[in-house]
Amino acid sequence: MSQVQEKSQFDFEWQTLSETTGAEILGIDLSKELSSHTIEQIVEVWQSSAVLLFRRQWLTELDMVRFAGYLGELEVMLRQDIASPYHRQVAYISNLLYEDGKNVGALGADELGWHTDQTYMREPSTGAMLYAVEVPELGGNTLFANQYVAYESLPNDIKVRINNLKGVFSYEYRLRNYKKEINKIGADVAKKDDANSKSRGETPEVTHPLVLTHPVTGRKALYADCATMMRIEGVDERESAELIEILEKVTAVNNQAVYEHKWQEGDLLMWDNSCVMHRRTNYEMKHPRFLKRITMFMPDHLFCRPY
Ligand SMILES: [Fe+2]
Repeated sequence: MSQVQEKSQFDFEWQTLSETTGAEILGIDLSKELSSHTIEQIVEVWQSSAVLLFRRQWLTELDMVRFAGYLGELEVMLRQDIASPYHRQVAYISNLLYEDGKNVGALGADELGWHTDQTYMREPSTGAMLYAVEVPELGGNTLFANQYVAYESLPNDIKVRINNLKGVFSYEYRLRNYKKEINKIGADVAKKDDANSKSRGETPEVTHPLVLTHPVTGRKALYADCATMMRIEGVDERESAELIEILEKVTAVNNQAVYEHKWQEGDLLMWDNSCVMHRRTNYEMKHPRFLKRITMFMPDHLFCRPY
């Protein structure tokens, strides 16, 4: 980890979390209102680091909603079973159960393999924020793989070939991959999120560009979530399979630019789904895990959007 950076133009101190990905912002209390100047600087650090961490926060859901509202347009949860009863923009991610045996929130069981959130949606909300209320001591880490680095690691001829191509993304396809992953771990996990899987299974296929260009930095990121991308549009089956094999290796399998986040209670972590993929590690279900999530549609003059 690098030393704390004191940059004169920033209101706060921040430090990088790994060589390529992630930054921690220090000394900001997110339960307080923030000036537009501070928000602009937070956005600047987020744009360059893709993953942003604030530790030791003590936040109400209203605090989360206010802070997220500075950054993007908040997505309203359609699934009532995981939405907070107080704020429909806040979703619960947890393995805890209510007295009647119902899950407190989404289990997040489909988070175990490398993926990008919502690539099966026509207009994904790419900004994601998680606030850790209770986390197990062991396991449940979240890993982020930098997709700028993934793109930059490709040979030039592949870059040229994919620059104007689109991927076809399918929830059905993701579901099949997710079930394969789950089978390695245990069927009880799969069963609990089955209701969600069924409703999402009706989502039609969508297309997104394989390469996204950041509107401010000009940097190019791969947008090729191979857990959900079933083929590449406009090329024959053989070429599509060949390209997907190449992309899968750099996006996830051989990606060296990974930041692994070990959660602490009070962490508020944000990531930009347009330029990182993520997965979490397994943990024992007997240990309570409870996080609150907000997802945001990011402004397209400040962040990449895959639509
Ligand atoms: Fe995810």
